Amino acid sequence: MEKDLRTTYMGLDLKNPIIAGSTGLTGNIDSLKNLEEEGVAAVVLKSIFEEEIFLEHEALLNQDDPFGSKREQLDYMDMQIRKDNIDRYVKLIKQAKKELSIPVIASINCAYTTGWLSFSKELEVAGADAIELNMFFSPSDIKTNSTDIEKLYFDVINKVGSSVTIPISLKISYHFTALGNTIMKLSESGIKGMVLFNRFFSPDIDIDTMSVKPSFVLSDPSEIGKSLRWVALFSEKAGCDICASTGIHSGDAVIKQLLAGAKAVQIASVLYDKKRGIVKDILNKIESWMTSKSFAAIDDFRGRLAVKKDDDPALYERSQFMKYYTK
Ligand SMILES: Cc1cc2nc3c(=O)[nH]c(=O)nc-3n(C[C@H](O)[C@H](O)[C@H](O)COP(=O)(O)O)c2cc1C
Repeated sequence: MEKDLRTTYMGLDLKNPIIAGSTGLTGNIDSLKNLEEEGVAAVVLKSIFEEEIFLEHEALLNQDDPFGSKREQLDYMDMQIRKDNIDRYVKLIKQAKKELSIPVIASINCAYTTGWLSFSKELEVAGADAIELNMFFSPSDIKTNSTDIEKLYFDVINKVGSSVTIPISLKISYHFTALGNTIMKLSESGIKGMVLFNRFFSPDIDIDTMSVKPSFVLSDPSEIGKSLRWVALFSEKAGCDICASTGIHSGDAVIKQLLAGAKAVQIASVLYDKKRGIVKDILNKIESWMTSKSFAAIDDFRGRLAVKKDDDPALYERSQFMKYYTK
């Protein structure tokens, strides 16, 4: 019997729980169409980056201009560059909405300021079904303390929230001093979804050229542990839907995240690794597992291994730890 793989995520109806996360593969219409053909239930577009706009402007400003005579002209160009970048993004959203039948989630990478975020409305008008805020403020900045960094998250949510009516989700990293407390507060700030977690490229060092190089661009399946733990701890307690991300490379991994209580999952690296066929493999695995366990729909088992609303997460963690170490 065919299984019912439908789910909802921040009010969006999804035909199955698999969302293509934001990567280069979600930045052009041809590969978006491939992803839909492969079977994903929604796509998060490649993020529009504040730095793209900011750095382009800086490069121009740094050109030789001893008397600053270019400044006025550059202020105008700055506006133009922003406009061109946003126009390109708006065009991608419109194309995606026209050519795909699955939900299209726009993604904004927020790094420094909130001033530029008023353009979010344009993403909504272009037809985006939701906006994912991909947020990371570097903890390596020694002048900013944790309270100030955390405040920025709420500032961004408020700024975008006051510009749009479509659902907003927040994609965060696990680099917070009090992660549980922060997840709870953010989840109750008006957002409809939270993605746990983003993954950042780590630097490596090339010992031949003695230079820094990017490394570990794609995740490994063993990296699922962190998100699995925090999804299980907060899927029932959080004030918004939880979407799992990082290290999800197989049907088994998706089933684990659903048992932990995720409403949906995002996959990224595995789409680069295996290319065609992986989404179908994952969906087949979920269906065959559901058959073996006599489940007809995702809701029959979602959250079975989540920490219950009134349970103490610290106790749950402690008991898992004790089980392992007293064996
Ligand atoms: C090549 C590449 C480009 C990415 N670009 C973005 C991006 O623009 N915005 C974003 O929020 N995440 C971006 N990510 C992060 C992924 O969306 C995802 O959160 C991360 O890779 C963890 O999921 P995974 O283990 O399935 O790869 C990128 C990842 C890769 C591998």
